Amino acid sequence: MKKYIEEIVRQAKVRARQESDAEPEPGLISPVQWPVNCDVKQGLEGAITGQTEIGYVNGPKGWLIYRGLDCFDLSEHSTFEETSYLLLFGKLPSKTEMDEFMAKLNSYRTLPDEALRLLDSLPVKSAHPMSTLRTIVSALGMMDPNSDVTTVKAETEVAIKLIAQIVTITGAIARIRKGEKPLAPDTSLSLAADLVRMMTGKMPNEEDARIMDICLILHADHGMNASTFSTMVVNSSLSDMYSSIVAGIASLKGPLHGGANEAVLADLEEIGSVDNVQAWYSLSKVGKRRVMGFGHRVYKAYDPRARILHPLAELLSRRDPNVRRLYDTAAELEKWVVGDLGKEKGIFPNVDFYSGIVYTAMGIEKAMFTPIFAVSRMSGWGARALEYLKNNRIFRPRAVYVGPLHVEYVPIEERS
Ligand code: SDX
Repeated sequence: MKKYIEEIVRQAKVRARQESDAEPEPGLISPVQWPVNCDVKQGLEGAITGQTEIGYVNGPKGWLIYRGLDCFDLSEHSTFEETSYLLLFGKLPSKTEMDEFMAKLNSYRTLPDEALRLLDSLPVKSAHPMSTLRTIVSALGMMDPNSDVTTVKAETEVAIKLIAQIVTITGAIARIRKGEKPLAPDTSLSLAADLVRMMTGKMPNEEDARIMDICLILHADHGMNASTFSTMVVNSSLSDMYSSIVAGIASLKGPLHGGANEAVLADLEEIGSVDNVQAWYSLSKVGKRRVMGFGHRVYKAYDPRARILHPLAELLSRRDPNVRRLYDTAAELEKWVVGDLGKEKGIFPNVDFYSGIVYTAMGIEKAMFTPIFAVSRMSGWGARALEYLKNNRIFRPRAVYVGPLHVEYVPIEERS
């Protein structure tokens, strides 16, 4: 099993390198000398927040690295746990370090009873799963007596704890939404395999476990995206890691960011079949509607993560005609959007376009897609908040004031 999945990843890397080399952008890999001159557009496009050793996204080339390792190589050879260690500590772990890290993750995987009782008392079935996830992580901060210790050491411990616990919380939310009892974590399984088991109630086969592991590797870190930046902004005030991660979850929820994977599935279901794609896309253009799962602030080439998720979605879609129909619809939509906007505007599928088809094939409902993204991005959020904390300065940009000046105060009786 592993072999043909690894071959899919290798082929994806070959295609990526055929279209563009893995060359860095000179201005984005040299150490920062403050003050930095940068052209900043609305939405902080082009703004530089500082320097980092954690990850680099080369948008024009469609190249993504974590600590220097290519996302293709990590997807082919690594695991989510090993990749999380790499992001947090800057190197691939030795066998001993990996065993110790796994033991620590496993020691944190069971949720405190108060958290399970809180889950029981919340409107989990009706609320968006990302709202539930955000609430439980916030509550875990209240339950942790050390949550307000903001040393790098203490916050590293919280980050590791949350990498483990967000898996269990996400599993529990998925089960409660279906009216079932949460399952206790099984520490004999990887985080990826246990995530699928705790969400679906079924032990995943080897193929699903390995593909979910690759999904978690691919979603782990991605430069200064909105949710990572939100996490860092909160942590830069020396708040605490729980509060910072709550901010990351809150930002990721939006359909312009992590919520796009769920929106893509809703679009594909709305389109219904390959035959309806052209009419649907023409209508979306008339309504100037953003096609979910396409476009990116940084990538103006094919998102390398989508290069891997596309063939994995195709592979898994063969098992179920309904999933196959979703996949065929998506592939046809990609043809229309890229044919129309690819060259002209650099609009290509992003990480969210095919991920939902992979999760649907595993029996996971679309409302749970973004929490899966959060499970993975927890390691990137933690790594980047901790890196910035080591050389912290509170984020405090300016806005240009264009309102009136020197306005006289008028008592209410005299106001019209
Ligand atoms: C993620 O930042 C990250 O790294 C995020 C992420 C990560 O790993 O953390 O990669 C994960 O969030 C991926 C993106 C998921 N979101 C979507 O798929 C939502 C649909 N995409 C768009 O909303 C948009 O592409 C964004 C939000 C992703 C990026 O928005 P920008 O950079 O602000 O782009 P823009 O709105 O300035 O658009 C530039 C042009 C516009 O056309 P003009 O007005 O110049 O004529 O491109 C067009 C846009 O209309 N455009 C699209 C489009 N995305 C941009 N047109 C149609 N469909 C789209 N999806």
